Parts: sequence; C-alpha cells; structure tokens
Amino acid sequence: MINLLMCLSVVLLDLMTVHSHGLMQGRIVGGYTAAPNSIKYMVSLQSTRGQHFCGGSLVHRYWVLTAAHCNIGAEHMMIVAGDYIINSYEGNEQYAKPHRLVTHPLYNRSTNNADIMLIKLRAPVVLNKYVSLVPLPRQGTAENEGRLCRVAGWGFNSLAEGQARFTLRTVTVPIISTARCNSSDSFNGNITANMICAGYRTGGKDACKGDSGGPLVCGGRAYGVVSWGNGCGDAKFPGVYVAVSKFRRWIDETIYGSYFRCTKY
Ligand SMILES: *[C@@H]1O[C@H](CO)[C@@H](O)[C@H](O)[C@H]1NC(C)=O
Ligand SMILES: *[C@@H]1O[C@H](CO)[C@@H](O)[C@H](O)[C@H]1NC(C)=O
Ligand SMILES: *[C@@H]1O[C@H](CO)[C@@H](O)[C@H](O)[C@H]1NC(C)=O
Repeated sequence: MINLLMCLSVVLLDLMTVHSHGLMQGRIVGGYTAAPNSIKYMVSLQSTRGQHFCGGSLVHRYWVLTAAHCNIGAEHMMIVAGDYIINSYEGNEQYAKPHRLVTHPLYNRSTNNADIMLIKLRAPVVLNKYVSLVPLPRQGTAENEGRLCRVAGWGFNSLAEGQARFTLRTVTVPIISTARCNSSDSFNGNITANMICAGYRTGGKDACKGDSGGPLVCGGRAYGVVSWGNGCGDAKFPGVYVAVSKFRRWIDETIYGSYFRCTKY
C-alpha cells in the first residue's frame, strides 16, 4: 500500500480558490429520510456561521473525502461529524476545523474533471456509535452497470430557510455505463474516465447540488463523490460522480505520505 511514490509526491495546494458554485442549493431528489445516525461516515461541511454547503465522508480519523468544488477556503469551513438534523444540536455532533485542504492537482473547474478533495482535520474524530469511517474501492476497480448504490445528503431548497430543520436524506440509484452517460442522448462527450454516472432511466431519483461532496456507496465502499449534473433527477441526465477508484492511490499517498515519510525506505 505504501510505496516510494509517496516520498516524491508533493501536492500543491490552492487554498485561495473560491468556486463559482458558492453555497449550493438543492436536495436529494426522490429519496427518503435516513434513520437517525444510520449513515455514520457522513459529514456536513459548513461555513463558520453554521451554513451547510456540501457533504463529505470520513475515510480516516483525520481525513474527509469531498469534492474539489466544495473548496471555499479552509478558514471559512467547519466539518461536522455525527450529525443528523443540521441546524439542530442533538448531542452526537463532533465539530472539527480543517488543518489543510488538498484539492487534486488535475482538478479542472470548467470540465469538472478530477473534482476531488481531501480535508485534513486539526484534531481526529472520535469513532463511536454515531461516527465511523467508510471503506474505499481499490485502485482501478470498476462498478458494473446496474449496481445499486446509495447517496445521501443534506442539500436543501433555499438559503432563506435557514431556520428550518434539515434531516439527512438518502436515495438508491443504479450505476449507468459511461458509454450511455457520455452519449449524444446524454452528456454528449463531457464524461471523462475519472467520472461515473448513476440514476434511473426514468429519472426522478438523484443527488442535487447541496449534496455535492457526499459519497455514493456501493456494497459498503465509497465508489463515488457527488460532483455535477444537469438539473436534478432528469431522465436524460443522471448524476455524475467522481470515480473514487481512479484516485485511490492519490488518496493513500496524500493521507499516508505525510505519516510515513521517506525514513521507511
Ligand atoms: C480545463 O480543461 C479545458 C478543456 O479541456 C482546458 O482548455 C483548460 O486548459 C483546462 N484548465 C486547466 C486549469 O487545466
Ligand atoms: C458539454 O460541455 C460543453 C462545454 O462545457 C457545454 O457547452 C455543453 O452544454 C455540455 N453538454 C452537456 C450535454 O452537458
Ligand atoms: C466521452 O466522449 C468524448 C467525446 O467523444 C471522448 O473524448 C471521451 O474520451 C469520452 N469519455 C470516456 C470516458 O470514454
């Protein structure tokens, strides 16, 4: 797992980028309310004023996996684990400030390619009944068309509804082949090898923008990160996710490279 590449990899950060998506809107479409604290790897990314803007998942006690377009700058962010109803204190929440953000060096905001980011927390989360880690797929493993996966999020309708109670929602969606998703009937050539698509041919079930950064979990592993789409729940346009298996090596290098340094070799 640990290899020499880690000694060589230096990830340059661009902490200053503020993305056009800003504080995103929308919510899980066609899904249902999750049971309290049943999706324990899920975190909410919030502004320092407590405004939820993206999802994420815990992949390590010190690290959150999310989308690169959720980068609003480390100093503007708070990560909340163990949450269920955001905007309501329930007692199981753990709040962590980011220590640093690592956006993928190939992230391209105009094509959405490599829309992946890791957040290192200043202090580790405590794993308990409400907070756990999500396993990741191995490098290069593909998900087959039709496999059912689950996405969750707190995306909501309107920033004006700040005082409303927002409960974690989830929806099950099948993987769609890249060939179909990239066809002229759908995203017409805009799907890269670093993306996977999921949704029903009939539409109606999807993640939406406020769900960005949250994980798409298939067979217990986070195969996707909510990235982009064209509307939400549109039959022609499924949800597009980061293909996490294409980034497993980068994730391991980023997380473990900083622990194991070169003295091991
Ligand atoms: C993003 O991708 C577009 C289209 O391929 C390319 O023209 C542009 O140079 C890329 N931007 C960056 C920052 O790599
Ligand atoms: C594909 O990307 C181009 C360039 O960003 C955009 O103009 C076009 O609308 C996109 N098409 C679809 C179907 O997403
Ligand atoms: C999607 O289509 C475009 C245009 O034909 C192509 O360049 C790209 O490689 C395709 N993506 C994948 C993952 O095959």
